[in-house]
Amino acid sequence: MVLSLEAALEQVSRARLAVLPTPLEPLSNWERELGHPGIYIKRDDMTGLGPGGNKLRSLEFLAGEALEQGADTLIAAGPLQSNLCTLAAAASAKLGLRCILVHNGEKPERLEGRVLPNRGLGAECRYRGPVDAGVREQVVAELCRELASSCHPYVIRNGATTGRGALGYVQAVPELERQFRERGIRQATLFAPGGNGGGATGLIYGNALLGFPFQVVIISVEDDRETLLAHIRQTLQEAEEILGLPFPGSLEEACVVDDTFRGEGWSVNTPASSRMVGAFARREGILVEHVYNSKVLVGMEAYIRDGRVPGAACYLHTGGFGSLFAQY
Ligand SMILES: Cc1ncc(COP(=O)(O)O)c(C=O)c1O
Repeated sequence: MVLSLEAALEQVSRARLAVLPTPLEPLSNWERELGHPGIYIKRDDMTGLGPGGNKLRSLEFLAGEALEQGADTLIAAGPLQSNLCTLAAAASAKLGLRCILVHNGEKPERLEGRVLPNRGLGAECRYRGPVDAGVREQVVAELCRELASSCHPYVIRNGATTGRGALGYVQAVPELERQFRERGIRQATLFAPGGNGGGATGLIYGNALLGFPFQVVIISVEDDRETLLAHIRQTLQEAEEILGLPFPGSLEEACVVDDTFRGEGWSVNTPASSRMVGAFARREGILVEHVYNSKVLVGMEAYIRDGRVPGAACYLHTGGFGSLFAQY
């Protein structure tokens, strides 16, 4: 028997962490400015724990597995301003777990950006200097071996971009579909960032399993289209195995992956994305950071201006603005 999407998701262990549904709100000033009725923001910056943000949806499924395995410690790794690390610290606090964060970066002299909340949330932070992500993973593996005799660690792999982590955004699609239906909106295009592609995978997979209620446009902030699609394909395969529901159709036809707004790549502003941080804040009173969200807004605006959005446009705000305080 083939399970429905929601029934299949119910069978996967999940720790309830996020305040859901997150709001769906019109961006009315921008609508007027662009002369396009129906521009929305999905406020996943307001998922409710710590500073909020997209990764809390993934952490619900990852922490669910951790608890099922009897883990008492969550280990997450990332650069100093990693959104995932702060949200892992917040999730651990909520679930009564120890949290260890492994950073590739020097111990900062000042507690700026996310370093301050990480400490405040009770995480144990280990700074490994300017090593690359590969070495950082080795450090995590060594740490796990060290801890094995004294506690039960669970490692959040690959910045939560795993098949299980992607289920967070599979689960967000029926939530969004309900919100648009309640507003009487029948046609909408979702714009979301693609970094490692975990969130993108979930949106594309969830949208396909629901019968394509949305058009999905992923704005790459880091890699070229082919590389991002390869990440998505890999994560999708893992997600399909966990959920037991095959992806209906072809990945390329199920979404648009656009790499033309990424500039020099991850964390490097383009002139347009740099302007967008301030312009969006002044227009709508909402803060965005420059690594992921400002490039998506630039992309969405271009699509609207070019007449490539036939119905409503919806920008997925993935949060992360805590790092804004260390970006300028
Ligand atoms: C705020 C924010 N938005 C978007 C993303 C991109 O998510 P993904 O790596 O799943 O593509 C990240 C990843 O760290 C993030 O922190």
